[in-house]
Amino acid sequence: MAGGRVFAQGDSGGEVGARRHLFGYNAGISACERGKQWQRALALLSEMRESRLEPDVISYSAGIRACEVSELWAKALDLLESMLGARVDPAAAGSPDEGLYVHDVEAGGPKDVFKHIVLVALLQQMAAGADPFTFIDMHAASGVYNLSSEETLRCRILERGVLRLSHAAEGSGKGLVADYLAAVWRCNKALDSSSRALTLYPGSPALAWQWLRPQDTAVLFEAATEPYEALRRTFSLLDRGVGRRLSLLHDDSYMRLTFGPWPWPSGRQLVLLDPPYDSIQSHGTWNVFVLRRLLQRSPSSCVALWYPLVDQEKVASLHSRVQSLAAGSVLVAEMWLEGSWPRGEALQGSGILVVNPPPAVHAQLLAALPELQGALGATGSRVLWL
Ligand SMILES: C[S@@+](CC[C@H](N)C(=O)[O-])C[C@H]1O[C@@H](n2cnc3c(N)ncnc32)[C@H](O)[C@@H]1O
Repeated sequence: MAGGRVFAQGDSGGEVGARRHLFGYNAGISACERGKQWQRALALLSEMRESRLEPDVISYSAGIRACEVSELWAKALDLLESMLGARVDPAAAGSPDEGLYVHDVEAGGPKDVFKHIVLVALLQQMAAGADPFTFIDMHAASGVYNLSSEETLRCRILERGVLRLSHAAEGSGKGLVADYLAAVWRCNKALDSSSRALTLYPGSPALAWQWLRPQDTAVLFEAATEPYEALRRTFSLLDRGVGRRLSLLHDDSYMRLTFGPWPWPSGRQLVLLDPPYDSIQSHGTWNVFVLRRLLQRSPSSCVALWYPLVDQEKVASLHSRVQSLAAGSVLVAEMWLEGSWPRGEALQGSGILVVNPPPAVHAQLLAALPELQGALGATGSRVLWL
């Protein structure tokens, strides 16, 4: 294939022929991704268009990844822009309903605890301002997790997370960690008043709910049906006529917020992107693309993106891509549970980067992370400005 066309014109006609051609091109572009041949991948995509063969989501995604593996982020973003401009539906690569991700497995584990403590810091600072704000959760999931569910118990992950923290922090009544634990207990009391043990773990929407005031609004997106139904049930119990403004949307937040006819809320916003990293749509280029779109739409929004720490190179490249958006101040908080930085071993842990954070969050995290690290037995943490 090197250098030549994947198919000569007239190889075979009709729909079957076109499908075969598409398949051949897709295989070719995927091979370029593996071989880091981004120029060849882009050439194949243009060749397809020239021969009136429309690239599909697989062709574009392989092209985007070929640019990603060569660290050509601007080209990857352009390609994604062209894909959406050509109205190629990214959901055709698999919807969250078909994904493998089940958040119950992670609920209350150390990565969740870290993420939610950072979220609590952001919520506290947003709620400290007098003006109303809107909390937009782009990946809401179920809202609350049953800690005695088979899934959660089987993984025993919460023993290393919220339960461990709760024992370690017993009696220490002040600060971010204590505020987070109090919120976990409040949610248990609100939904299961009879229990004296922790039986539920609040996810991001249920935590956020506790800091929203009557003048604030929550907009919660969940694309998959099962967690969306669970979210609805959770909020019918949590809401109980308190009167806070709430909008639950069973929809793809990336498409709705970046392209859809969605009225962007006025005033301050806190946006949380907490993707499952299980589909083309929730991977690197997409998140940076969505971040760029959101900040173009509303440059002063505070936007937080969670990411897993598995590979230092990938993390460094995510940081530099977000920096290259020049979108405002960016605060990063990371905690690794195994491995150490920057020695190059495989890491385990999670990070959050926050564009336009409320300034006081920096000091809050600097004070809280050493306590959290000690309590969770984590091997390291850091807070820095990009
Ligand atoms: C990591 S979980 C979110 C956990 C939640 N933020 C928390 O802290 O409790 C990711 C969720 O995002 C949903 N999801 C994936 N892609 C989505 C999209 N494009 N729009 C809305 N929801 C999506 C998945 O179905 C999954 O329930």
